[in-house]
Amino acid sequence: MKLGLFVKIALYSLATTSYGWRPKGHEWHPPLPGDSRSPCPGLNVMANHGWLPRSGKNIDLATLRVAVTGAYNYAPTTFDKAFEQAIAFNLTTTGNSSTFNLADLAKHDDIEFDGSLSRNDFYFGDDLHFDPVIWATVAEKLGLYEHGDSEKDKYVTVETAAKARAARVRDAMKVNPTFNASLNEISGSPGTTALYLTTLWDTKADAAPKAWIRAFFEQERIPFLEGYELPEKQKTGADINAMFARVQSVNVSVQH
Ligand code: HEM
Ligand SMILES: *[C@@H]1O[C@H](CO)[C@@H](O)[C@H](O)[C@H]1NC(C)=O
Ligand SMILES: *[C@@H]1O[C@H](CO)[C@@H](O)[C@H](O)[C@H]1NC(C)=O
Ligand SMILES: *[C@@H]1O[C@H](CO)[C@@H](O)[C@H](O)[C@H]1NC(C)=O
Ligand SMILES: *[C@@H]1O[C@H](CO)[C@@H](O)[C@H](O)[C@H]1NC(C)=O
Repeated sequence: MKLGLFVKIALYSLATTSYGWRPKGHEWHPPLPGDSRSPCPGLNVMANHGWLPRSGKNIDLATLRVAVTGAYNYAPTTFDKAFEQAIAFNLTTTGNSSTFNLADLAKHDDIEFDGSLSRNDFYFGDDLHFDPVIWATVAEKLGLYEHGDSEKDKYVTVETAAKARAARVRDAMKVNPTFNASLNEISGSPGTTALYLTTLWDTKADAAPKAWIRAFFEQERIPFLEGYELPEKQKTGADINAMFARVQSVNVSVQH
């Protein structure tokens, strides 16, 4: 454990001088005041690495396609439907109906929905920014800060992730009198769990490393420091759908 901490410190001091790896020009920087960010960690990560404009503004489809390939090695058109859906909701504030600013996506009940893993519900005033209190409840269910002795303690499995998501939705329904179970909430919520798992998947472990999940949600950063590498094999919508099916197949009901 001591060694672990030492290595961590070494990595972080290395990080201050050379955050700039892989590839040049796509260093991680947190947003500056005035930059636009979304309720979606996946998009924010890409803006923080300059795959999307660092301003988070005037995002168009061509830029998104380049970004998802550069940042995560998804096939360029993987997120076309999501983009087109956002455009179709007319939520843009850019003045150009082919683009949006990241913050535009926070418009409640369009794509944004209640019971998110790392954001609070719209009813409580802020559905856009990372919410450490909400996330702490989810992180606990994911066991993100538990480091057991065995190799498998380093990973979040599909089963754990599916149960953590379901528990978060149950918690949100308990405290939010306006929780609205729209179609988006019902199908979108396992969908976003499938998205982060697919994006941060370690094929050999058949699970997602806890350290990668922490960096992705808590710093909105690609976890290169924690050993993430761009997948050699490009991922597609089929990978996301397959993961979605796995998430959906977990029995998340609780005994009373
Ligand atoms: C590139 C890969 C992407 C990844 C890995 C990703 C990942 C995620 C994750 C994990 C969440 C859930 C956050 C939470 O529950 O706290 C989320 C939410 C969201 N994503 Fe993405 N996303 C991606 C692309 C996109 C695209 C292309 C769009 C739209 C154009 C989008 C729009 C949203 C929105 C609006 C939410 C909020 C949903 C909610 O209320 O929970 N995402 N995304
Ligand atoms: C968005 O605007 C278009 C064109 O003005 C309109 O046809 C469509 O119904 C609007 N969509 C929503 C969800 O309001
Ligand atoms: C709107 O954005 C699209 C996509 O970036 C661009 O091709 C188009 O020229 C823009 N239109 C205007 C009027 O700026
Ligand atoms: C969902 O709840 C919000 C308040 O959190 C409310 O503004 C919105 O109109 C509701 N949507 C539906 C479809 O009931
Ligand atoms: C799911 O789990 C619950 C609680 O453990 C159990 O009562 C139920 O029978 C399970 N359902 C299925 C389909 O296995």
